[in-house]
Amino acid sequence: DTVDWDPEETGKSGYDHFMLKEIHEQPRALRQCFRGRVDELSGTVDLADLGDLSPRGVQLVACGTSYHAAVYAAQLFQQAGIPAQAFLASEYATSPPPIGDALVIGVTQSGETADTLSALREARRRGARTLAVTNTVGSTVARECDHAMYIRAGPEIGVAATKTFSSQIAALNLLSLAITSVGDSREVISGLRDLPGAVQEILDTSTAQEIAETYRDAESYFFIGRGLHYPVALEGALKMKEITYKHAEGFAAGELKHGPLALVTSDTPVFAVVTGDDEQATKTVGNVKEVEARDAPVVAVTDGASDVERYADHVLEVPDTHRRVAAVVANVQLQLVAYHTADMLGRSIDKPRNLAKSVTVE
Ligand code: AGP
Repeated sequence: DTVDWDPEETGKSGYDHFMLKEIHEQPRALRQCFRGRVDELSGTVDLADLGDLSPRGVQLVACGTSYHAAVYAAQLFQQAGIPAQAFLASEYATSPPPIGDALVIGVTQSGETADTLSALREARRRGARTLAVTNTVGSTVARECDHAMYIRAGPEIGVAATKTFSSQIAALNLLSLAITSVGDSREVISGLRDLPGAVQEILDTSTAQEIAETYRDAESYFFIGRGLHYPVALEGALKMKEITYKHAEGFAAGELKHGPLALVTSDTPVFAVVTGDDEQATKTVGNVKEVEARDAPVVAVTDGASDVERYADHVLEVPDTHRRVAAVVANVQLQLVAYHTADMLGRSIDKPRNLAKSVTVE
């Protein structure tokens, strides 16, 4: 007797798609990223294998989802007093050269993205030290850079990056703590410790499927966020367009009124990522009021700390966590919205049209 089995189906461990499996692998991947690198008692991060980096400035180069992780990370370095900027790798050649003793960080899951490799080669030519933040041991980026930090997410088969985005953010948090001295490192580390559990809570309780069902026929989706939630808005939109083939745009919440608001109608669902109740949150709530006044359906991705729910038609919950962590958790909600929308539309989720997992041409 023989049993028919398809290696690809077996690899999905019972999930309908690799993407869904990989979304569910995030708590484990995050724990794996932190393992042996964090000392909670002393509130320190040990990345001794990277040597003494102490840069005076940081530039990050990356593409697509990895670029969104880079935009997030640039804010962490800036908050710690290190000048930092994220560049689209394909545009890096036109950027100002790295300053003095700068470190140029290439963020790339595959480690083989041609645009990112080329930007890093340009950085080295300009005299910068380079660090690869990658998922792939032995990749070209790991071999070519002066240093490599592995995100340890495990293999990602779906073309849409999911767990590697969360793990890149986790790794870049550790890196920022290791090479800067921030006063609240203990608080950040304790927040990071909560991250895998907070993601698990979303996986267990998310109502993203209902939201996807409600708005599956929309022509266009908007995503807005501020500060650390800005790259989450970009990422939410990228995931949506990549696997549903629908138009989606991510905006810095404050930019909406400078043009895109003209596109907002009662047919444009707007996903607003708002956590905490600080000044940033208050301003984003103001932007939400502007879209609500145009009758746009609002989905608030929120921890409930602000009064955004008053102006929202639906809520996707985020547990009450550190802002750095809330961004990752909010993103998991948006991954699930994109996944379920694409699934209902019958799209080729793991292999979207026209896209490759690793883009090896410039
Ligand atoms: C993400 O869902 C995309 N497939 C794509 O944007 C990807 O993140 C980009 O091509 C960069 O890939 P890398 O991380 O392997 O360099």
